[in-house]
Amino acid sequence: NPDEHEVTRPPVVTVMGHVDHGKTSLLDAIRETDVAGGEAGGITQHIGAYKVKINKEGSPAFGREIVFLDTPGHEAFTRMRARGAKVTDIVVIVVAADDGVMPQTLEAVDHAKAANVPIIVAVNKIDKPDAQPDRVKQQLGDRGLVPEAWGGSTVFVDVSAKKKQNLDLLLEMICLVADLGNLKATPGRSAVGTVIEAKLDRGRGAVASVLVQNGTLRNQDSFIVGNTFGKIRAMFDDRGRAIEVAGPSTPVEILGLESMPEAGDTFLVTADRDKAKVISQYRKMKERESQLAKSSRVSLEGLAE
Ligand code: GTP
Ligand code: NA
Ligand code: MG
Repeated sequence: NPDEHEVTRPPVVTVMGHVDHGKTSLLDAIRETDVAGGEAGGITQHIGAYKVKINKEGSPAFGREIVFLDTPGHEAFTRMRARGAKVTDIVVIVVAADDGVMPQTLEAVDHAKAANVPIIVAVNKIDKPDAQPDRVKQQLGDRGLVPEAWGGSTVFVDVSAKKKQNLDLLLEMICLVADLGNLKATPGRSAVGTVIEAKLDRGRGAVASVLVQNGTLRNQDSFIVGNTFGKIRAMFDDRGRAIEVAGPSTPVEILGLESMPEAGDTFLVTADRDKAKVISQYRKMKERESQLAKSSRVSLEGLAE
């Protein structure tokens, strides 16, 4: 059955780390864009999801793709994980070589360990005169992330987002770690994915960023997502270009939702819109039922007191 043909899919990498250690700058440098420069106060407010293709001639990873998720703090990551969503294959922890390990660095390490995903450490800002990359390795080594060079098993890459140093090496290391995970997908299936983020847009209504994790999503597909449903009216890639299809490991922005889904909701293509509607109504009813049960329990407890 050609619909069941398996392929290797690009890894999904979440970039985490202490505030201002350069997560967005690093992704900007990799993508050759300037998201960080356009952010109010330089603080990332929402999750960015990007797909990059390695185009360096002669690189062993030439032609390969990687999906990156840039996170504002870890809240989004934690919330998604708490809701059972598994979106990330690898966590890249960014540590500024001048600041060293900070509280949010350690939180990021804890989150990655709890999610049981491989960690790569990007020691950033090595261009700074007061950079101490070895101190970062020492600090993280003390927490169980021992560099390969020191006999451990954690990949560390010294980088500079500003000077675009060692970015190719970082991408190659990500591909190597991805290969160990043997990441597969079946493009012939109908799409399944996870909502990364949702917002109410004044002109366009409910808009969701969805990571297609398996199968292929097509314009006009009907879907259920969390407690709502819809039919794709338009979809866009990570650079805002309208697209018609999105294969496994592709972040897309979709229009055509009946109402707002939540980050972490599962997204599932159905045969038609009516089926999507029935399933979502059933889910809503079930949710109301459990809420009613909960509130009546609370009021009964109140009476008993
Ligand atoms: P939040 O999203 O707020 O958590 O920050 P972030 O981790 O995304 O950091 P961001 O990319 O906003 O960078 C913070 C500051 O560090 C900016 O002023 C960047 O210009 C600077 N910066 C980032 N990378 C480098 C680097 O490699 N070298 C130097 N010298 N500065 C850098
Ligand atoms: Na910042
Ligand atoms: Mg940022």
